[in-house]
Amino acid sequence: MEADIRALLDLPIDPGTVKRTLGRSMFAKNLCYFGCVGSTNDVAKNLAASGAPEGTLIVAEEQTQGKGRLGRRWISPGYVNLLFSVLLRPNILPDRVFSLTMIAAIASADAIRTLSGVHAKIKWPNDIYVERRKLGGILTEFKASVEKVDYVVVGLGINVNWSPEDRDEVLYPATSILAETGRYSSRQDLLVQILKDLETDYKILMRGDVESFYKRWNELCCIRDRVVQVDMGEKELKGRVLRIDRDGALVIRKQGGEQERVLWGDVSVQWEV
Ligand code: BTN
Repeated sequence: MEADIRALLDLPIDPGTVKRTLGRSMFAKNLCYFGCVGSTNDVAKNLAASGAPEGTLIVAEEQTQGKGRLGRRWISPGYVNLLFSVLLRPNILPDRVFSLTMIAAIASADAIRTLSGVHAKIKWPNDIYVERRKLGGILTEFKASVEKVDYVVVGLGINVNWSPEDRDEVLYPATSILAETGRYSSRQDLLVQILKDLETDYKILMRGDVESFYKRWNELCCIRDRVVQVDMGEKELKGRVLRIDRDGALVIRKQGGEQERVLWGDVSVQWEV
């Protein structure tokens, strides 16, 4: 029985059904589906360079060159997780691109919670966490001139129906919806729900209403009040997280009481303190 359920849920995503379910959504207009591809972000960037429209959606069952932040690899076996990228052409300044990662994280956390009941949170700047384990990640890449964004590619990897703790290549504590609930989930339903939530939030954001998202992002932030160490390459910083600012900066109170705003870095959390 268990094997039957697995076989059923490891079925490929059906792009036709995704399109139909999305209806008039901006993400239903140009859907590219791959069994196996290098990286959905790379495909999206190439399509963007050749003029693909906003809303172009790239979905893959498997990636051979899956990419994470800071040059890391994104590991996922085929047909068990969600791997996709969306192409956006927002009319915003380059310093606002961060807000797109933010709404993608909110949409993912909301959709995961709605469909599976798992209380997913956001670990600044781009991770989806459950308690102390990583459930997913977002890689945002963009092309812009000084005052104009040409395109933004937002790529999402979400662990759905696999057991990441069994894999030696995964270098951080990881989890999946299966590991959290003990149940297999429909990747297709999750994909559609994330895209619907993302579209709603994107339209609100493009109307200029950023305020509600900053509030929600801080509510969902799992490292608030935690002591963190931020590796910024040339410099390391330790302190307690106070909040995330409107421009996406992580605001930290250092040991001496002084505050510092961090715009970029790799965050390690001291969960116990
Ligand atoms: C991270 O946690 O550092 C971000 C991971 C992002 C992974 C996704 S999977 C789909 C898309 N294509 C990629 O190559 N990366 C993103």
